[in-house]
Amino acid sequence: MTETKADIGVYGLGTMGSALALNLAENGFRVAVTNREADWIDDFVKEEAALSGSFIPAQTLEAFVAAIKAPRTILFMIPSGDPVDAMIEAVLPLLGEGDTIIDGGNSDFHATRRRFEQLEGTGAHFVGMGVSGGEYGARHGPSMMVGGTTHSWEQLKPMAEAIAAKFNGEPCVAHLGPDGAGHFVKTVHNGIEYADMEMIAEVYSLLRDGADWEAARIGKLFEDWQEGPLASYLMEVSAAALQYVDPVTNKPMVDAIVDQAGQKGTGRWTVIEALKMGQSASAIEGAVGARGWSAERAMRGVAEDILPSVTLKEGAIPSNDDLASALLAGRILSHAQGFRILTAASEEFDWALDLARISEIWRAGCIIRSALLDDFAEAFRGELPHGHLILAPAMVEVLEKTIPALRRTVGAGVAKGIALPSLSGALAWYDSIRRARGATNLIQAQRDFFGAHGFERLDSDGSFNADWPPLA
Ligand code: 6PG
Repeated sequence: MTETKADIGVYGLGTMGSALALNLAENGFRVAVTNREADWIDDFVKEEAALSGSFIPAQTLEAFVAAIKAPRTILFMIPSGDPVDAMIEAVLPLLGEGDTIIDGGNSDFHATRRRFEQLEGTGAHFVGMGVSGGEYGARHGPSMMVGGTTHSWEQLKPMAEAIAAKFNGEPCVAHLGPDGAGHFVKTVHNGIEYADMEMIAEVYSLLRDGADWEAARIGKLFEDWQEGPLASYLMEVSAAALQYVDPVTNKPMVDAIVDQAGQKGTGRWTVIEALKMGQSASAIEGAVGARGWSAERAMRGVAEDILPSVTLKEGAIPSNDDLASALLAGRILSHAQGFRILTAASEEFDWALDLARISEIWRAGCIIRSALLDDFAEAFRGELPHGHLILAPAMVEVLEKTIPALRRTVGAGVAKGIALPSLSGALAWYDSIRRARGATNLIQAQRDFFGAHGFERLDSDGSFNADWPPLA
């Protein structure tokens, strides 16, 4: 008897690959599985005895490809970079017309665009798919951002919709555009994730260093904020982490953790791509920079002794309500920056990104899921001057109420010598774009003064140079 073929193949049985394979199996799909280290394959199938009937374990790439129904859907869950190129090269000769390779890792969207082009004309298709939600999300419902051809999306859709997180019954997955669109949206998702994490940490820093609050007390405050408009996965995580006691020291776990944050690159890519498109995602930049500076721990240790201490305990910190409002304003502004980058990329790469749809698929399953995303989706579906989130009437209303608190919070950080790079970056951006007349008229004067770069005048059309006086 011939075995029924698999609906999909999952290559790579690491944490995320295994979780997605199990999620697919639990939703009734038959899954071919394989892995570079072949001994993982049997271990995986044995460990998951209840679902093992849904898997077709394959020891070789040839057997893996042959086990999948044509046109094939093959999901690579492997490290991004060279391994993806190596796997494409290995699998491509085994594929047929209409087969789709999906890269579900955090790949650079430029590489995804290149790979998409590389497969054009081969009969096979390439999809870059951002998967958010960590291991739990992959196992029980991630948010997925798909970029590729309509053909691939039609193939993938029933499976992706079945395994995705649901918000009010709606699956948190969408086909967002061709080639690198899915991976780019995931990159910006991560940039926003960096900013959101950093802004929460900045409020923690104000309370810890500016008012001597214990970790658990801050955690309890964050837990209370979960009941209001700040409700989000990252706030929930922070509240729980701050209240967790280290079994070794019997003290708060966070107090035993070295303040040196890692990063794999997606936050940095967001900032780099934003700058390339003439944008400045200052709240995200602040967060990426803060992780960078955190890595210079040895130098910071020396600097603390050499530079005069300016972290002031005395003087009030803003009220709890002010801090909550500051975070809410910061969260809106950092998302607005992220969405602005998406708009710029959509124009640059001709993707026609649907920002309302993106907000919708971020409402559940992903790391930045929060109560605000539903409001953002609604804002993008309504009247939006210049397509800017912060000009939506509902956002204007919230910002009017919360910006004064953001000012007081940033002011307190400045007065006490506590760095708030994301919150202050967000505020600086807000203050820059809310003014019809900024100060770059002087930049233009400087440029023309030393380089005859020319400037436009308010009172006449054309380009002008001034007859600047010689310097003494
Ligand atoms: C997600 C996360 C996930 C991962 C990031 C973290 O959406 O599930 O963003 O992709 O946590 O890679 O990246 P850093 O290691 O750079 O913080």
